[in-house]
Amino acid sequence: MKLQIAIDGPAGSGKSTVAKRIAHELHLTYLDTGAMYRCATLVSLQKGTKEPSALINFLTENPISFQNTRADQRVFIGLNDVSAAIRTPEVAAAVSEISALPEIRDFMTAEQRRIAADSSIIMDGRDIGTVVLPDADLKIFLSADVHERAERRHKENIEKGIPSALAEIERTIAARDLYDSTRAIAPLKKAPDAIEYDTTGKTIDEVVAFIEEKIKSLS
Ligand code: DC
Repeated sequence: MKLQIAIDGPAGSGKSTVAKRIAHELHLTYLDTGAMYRCATLVSLQKGTKEPSALINFLTENPISFQNTRADQRVFIGLNDVSAAIRTPEVAAAVSEISALPEIRDFMTAEQRRIAADSSIIMDGRDIGTVVLPDADLKIFLSADVHERAERRHKENIEKGIPSALAEIERTIAARDLYDSTRAIAPLKKAPDAIEYDTTGKTIDEVVAFIEEKIKSLS
């Protein structure tokens, strides 16, 4: 039987770090849906258009794909490795607007469901438990204090060699949360049947252990 685990929450709540770890430890496929919206945003910035059909056509001809290495997950648009390009402040500042476009959401949601149908999966994002996988076996909603979330993202950027300014990150994160949680379609929202977990002051190990315990108790 295929397992579906949905991890939602605001930017920097620890979703991708813990989801990646759990995927590795429990042999699940990991899907970073935020990276997919970042790819659409990168294409928009590069092509200078916000026209959904132009972005969708481009991404149909040059599909988004992921490659897992031992240390990390690389993201591709067609043959281009865009792992660093999708994490720039320019993409972070524009991604909420692009991810609010209904046609873009439909396109990404269909793609995410198709990937989920292939294998047991842990998917992280904003609308996984509410829209993409409403029948997921386990739904977790991670939250954390905005200052701590900004610090985590800042540290992550520095480790990846991406230029980073803490105050700017905190501002962008707060703005993005507001936009993401108040948009009309598929807003960032805890599903009624999701388990909420506040990761403020928690280590990655603690969050991973909490979720893995829940996964193990499913069977
Ligand atoms: O997880 P992230 O910070 O990389 O996500 C980038 C943006 O993509 C986020 O601000 C909102 C959007 N997003 C979304 O709308 N739905 C998802 N399932 C995942 C991300």
